Amino acid sequence: MKKTVTLTFSDGSPSIELPIEQGTYGKPVIDIRELGPHGYFTHDPGFTATSSCNSAITYIDGDEGLLYYRGYPIEELAYQSDYMEVCYLLNHGELPTAGQKMAFENSIRHHSLLHDQMENVFRGFRRSAHPMAVMIGVTGAMSAFYHEGTDLFDPRHREIVAHRLIAKIPTVAAWAYKFNEGQPFVYPQNHLSYAENFMHMMFSTPCEPYQPRPVLARALDRIFILHADHEQNASTSTVRLAGSSGANPYACVAAGMASLWGPLHGGANEAVLKMLDEMGDVSRIPEYIKRAKDKADTFRLMGFGHRVYKNMDPRARIIRQTCYEVLDELDLRDDPQFKIAMELERIALEDDYFISRKLYPNVDFYSGIIFRAMGIPPSMFTVMFALARTSGWVAQWNEMLSDPAHKIGRPRQLYTGATRREYVSLDQRRA
Ligand code: CMC
Repeated sequence: MKKTVTLTFSDGSPSIELPIEQGTYGKPVIDIRELGPHGYFTHDPGFTATSSCNSAITYIDGDEGLLYYRGYPIEELAYQSDYMEVCYLLNHGELPTAGQKMAFENSIRHHSLLHDQMENVFRGFRRSAHPMAVMIGVTGAMSAFYHEGTDLFDPRHREIVAHRLIAKIPTVAAWAYKFNEGQPFVYPQNHLSYAENFMHMMFSTPCEPYQPRPVLARALDRIFILHADHEQNASTSTVRLAGSSGANPYACVAAGMASLWGPLHGGANEAVLKMLDEMGDVSRIPEYIKRAKDKADTFRLMGFGHRVYKNMDPRARIIRQTCYEVLDELDLRDDPQFKIAMELERIALEDDYFISRKLYPNVDFYSGIIFRAMGIPPSMFTVMFALARTSGWVAQWNEMLSDPAHKIGRPRQLYTGATRREYVSLDQRRA
């Protein structure tokens, strides 16, 4: 028998029975859609207790610290799979066969070039523009180059959009960096893997080719896997909400990038490095821990805490291991930031403030150290996150549009403004 919950009112209004849904995993969900016709809305700023959609893509168990993509634990994917396979999995629901994987990779390879005129879009920015600003602008501009004739209700058309975005975003990302550096744009090379190709576009110049080291390419590929999707976080919800009106998908992904940029979300990786740089030495950790605990101080320990994880973020564990591998490969095991990060983690995990609030290191805590060791500057860290998350954004966008029951997203509000009043003409208004 289906479980229900009955809502009763203290003023004697008729009670309302609401169904309780149970997903494959996760906490039960009260379906409140019946409340609207009864004249009530629910109020949940920050969506702390609200499910916004059905989704079969990613599952997080925040209490246990588990993350699954399409049912596969993140650890298995990170160590046994590769990013192309994960993109296919997120977007198609199943791991590809060898033939499907080859066809998918081939399609991604053959969509990586940008329309020649898009170079002009980059050149419209100031050289000093933050690469995330360039990413958002250029991705939004893709709507002017690749959208014509797209039928959002045709699955094949949506697939082409997904392939274009997964394929072209690394080129956009690398070019945002090159533009910043004042170096010529480097074109993709189809014989390289996805991660190698990105490194090639970032680090080679017309005067010197770049030979990606296998350990670094593998680490980057793993970081892409770890960032690929994370259910209904702020940027993914932004992509879904923007897309729910039938909007241009490139513009929707640009909107998702804008949301990601904030320091509480994908911007945290850049903020972590700034924080570690500012600390400069392990001796200053107590001072920062004290500030993080002080309610009068807006400072937070960046890379710590998560809305859903009340346990160690499983991605952080993998990324810390990857950090060791990369620093070993580059002979940087004595990297001062890494030492500070490890000591900070140790001290915070023993501190009652962090223990009682279940604040653990998240995915952004160690990623910046790896990126910087690879030669990727802090201003590019959130760009790296956006690059990897694009596969998740398009999978979620596609899932939403392929649901025949999908509706435009339209939250309501608790109005707290003025009651009706008469217009006062300018000459009658008093200061
Ligand atoms: N440092 C110090 N205190 C913290 C921190 C932190 N990093 N994070 C949360 N708290 C405290 C917060 O002050 C509050 O304390 P109290 O109950 O005494 O008022 C309590 O913990 C709960 O915090 P909250 O802000 O209500 O939690 P939230 O779920 O709204 O916020 C968060 C989650 C990730 C925005 C937050 O933990 C944070 O600001 N972390 C730092 C930024 C960061 O690392 N973001 C990356 C998130 S993972 C990557 C991604 O998915 O984007």
